[in-house]
Amino acid sequence: MNQAPAAGSGEVVLALANVESSYGPIKAIRGVSLKVRRGEIVTVLGSNGAGKSTILKTISGIIDPNRGSVSYKGENITALDPARIVRLGLSHVPEGREVFPLLSVRDNLLMGAYTRHDRDAVARDIEAAFGYFPILKERAAQDAGLLSGGQQQMLAISRALMAAPDLILLDEPSLGLSPKLTRDIFEIVVRINRERGTTMLLVEQNANMALNVADHGYVLETGRIVMDDSCAALREKEDIKEFYLGKKDSGVRGERRWKKKKTWR
Ligand SMILES: Nc1ncnc2c1ncn2[C@@H]1O[C@H](COP(=O)(O)OP(=O)(O)OP(=O)(O)O)[C@@H](O)[C@H]1O
Ligand SMILES: [Mg+2]
Repeated sequence: MNQAPAAGSGEVVLALANVESSYGPIKAIRGVSLKVRRGEIVTVLGSNGAGKSTILKTISGIIDPNRGSVSYKGENITALDPARIVRLGLSHVPEGREVFPLLSVRDNLLMGAYTRHDRDAVARDIEAAFGYFPILKERAAQDAGLLSGGQQQMLAISRALMAAPDLILLDEPSLGLSPKLTRDIFEIVVRINRERGTTMLLVEQNANMALNVADHGYVLETGRIVMDDSCAALREKEDIKEFYLGKKDSGVRGERRWKKKKTWR
């Protein structure tokens, strides 16, 4: 097992500089810059439609930005083909899991390893994924479409691991899951980070969970980064507590109050 490097001290593995991406006339992200260092878990917090998934899709090459650049390990990967980006060691766990429902759990895992030809190592990595998520071993021969939402999330994370990535992009792993399952999945995400040294960029609406597991956080609002800091510092900020951690009033009144009080604009 690899010794994970200390978070925050490593080289910058992923950097976005002034990235702007659109869907036709709709600008979804507007000049996003961020950095992820080797071994870190970095989170991007933002509510519905803030542009979180668009950031990840732009990094993994699913959509091409209109402006700005994405670099990975010092190489400019802006608008490269997604398959090339996977080969460079960057895996994307998409929002809503997107497992192949009519393929077995094992075949879904093998699809994740399609860029690799080292059969023995692939077999070992399947066992390693089963080590993290034992339920997947029990269900290995079943169609993935028969798994529960939580199990499908486990499979989607495991499938990303099968590409032997150095960096994993995780799009809202907590979506639609119970608090208990969310905790279980985040626990494994942290283990993967610590044990394998896998760097993670996690986008979440579940700020509570994300701020507890990540080292550094960015706050995204309507396509722009409005704040970034260590997660320890973000957890203490009053407006983060109110708006993202639900520590005070909620509902329309609370939101109005937050709009008046928040300090980042
Ligand atoms: N395929 C698309 N076509 C047109 N507009 C889109 C498309 N996908 C996203 N958008 C728009 O781009 C903006 C950013 O969307 P994005 O999916 O990145 O947000 P998000 O932060 O991931 O939201 P959520 O928390 O709901 O997943 C939103 O205004 C959204 O409506
Ligand atoms: Mg999204």
